[in-house]
Amino acid sequence: MAWKTAIMGATGAVGTEFLAILEQRRFPLKSLKLLASARSAGKKVQFMGQELVIEELTDNSFKGVELVLASAGGSVSKQYAPAAVAAGAIVVDNTSAFRMDGQIPLVVPEVNPQDIKAHKGIIANPNCSTIIMNVPVWPLHKANPIRRLVVSTYQAVSGAGAKAMHELEQQARDWAAGRPVKSEVMPHQTLFNVFSHNSRVSANGYNEEENKMLNETRKIFHCPDIRITATCVRVPVLRAHSEAINIEFSRPMGEDEVRGILSAAPGVRIIDDRQRNYFPMPLESAGHDDVLVGRIRQDMSLSGGTGIDLFVSGDQIRKGAALNAVQIAELL
Ligand code: A2P
Repeated sequence: MAWKTAIMGATGAVGTEFLAILEQRRFPLKSLKLLASARSAGKKVQFMGQELVIEELTDNSFKGVELVLASAGGSVSKQYAPAAVAAGAIVVDNTSAFRMDGQIPLVVPEVNPQDIKAHKGIIANPNCSTIIMNVPVWPLHKANPIRRLVVSTYQAVSGAGAKAMHELEQQARDWAAGRPVKSEVMPHQTLFNVFSHNSRVSANGYNEEENKMLNETRKIFHCPDIRITATCVRVPVLRAHSEAINIEFSRPMGEDEVRGILSAAPGVRIIDDRQRNYFPMPLESAGHDDVLVGRIRQDMSLSGGTGIDLFVSGDQIRKGAALNAVQIAELL
């Protein structure tokens, strides 16, 4: 089947990647409509050798549209996704608007593709750090149920959108030219700095990004009582997130068993060369589909061999967002 498709937020960091991925994967399209705010209406974009014109998103944008790939922010999705569904479209929503709604599937194709069947018009694409963690952790959890997981993230600015990426590049240019460095999109200077994730901190002391990793993983794994804790941090990287993951399993599991499982896992590529001190890096995961996994080692603080440490890196805009959403659409 080929789809009459619309991209909501087509000018953004994820929207632009949707175009690249649809083209690369030769996604079956009958037509493609590019939607953004009034600010971008009339701008022209190249796609498969054709010039497409950005249109302003309105309630009437969805007539005849069968598939919507949405990434224009949570409030925009809340406002427009129902109109798209009423017009007969299926919405794959990349925002946090519907992820924890019990009626709406939240899907990582490598983990819970079967959940798509229950959709009633909207399918939610998980948080980027959650997807990048879940792709390598799920096959391990299936082999040996997790008792407790501790994750610390090293997150690129791309998660805060194209404007945050431009700000980091501008900070580098300004610093190199001896000009004052400005931070208007991010709350703090990103260049030469590291700061706690720029999402709201809730009453329990966890920020929203951390709560997303905890709650969404429980939903995707269908494992409401899995014990997970997270610390989410921004680092001066443009577009791929890295994560240090410590897992305590139910039974002992050695490095070799972990390596064997991960080498057969879809969406995972192992980079784990101790001799050359060569492991996953955001500069190497950026622009690629696989989550890179390395630093695979036994956690020596747990007697009995039940603990494993990993370091992973995955492209936040691709697998963490646009690619995962297109894979969901392909499953449809
Ligand atoms: P625009 O470029 O016209 O502002 P990012 O995540 O990189 O910041 O991108 C956000 C995307 O969402 C952009 O394509 C942006 O369009 C779009 N967007 C933001 N607000 C709205 C809105 N109210 N209506 C339609 N599109 C919006």
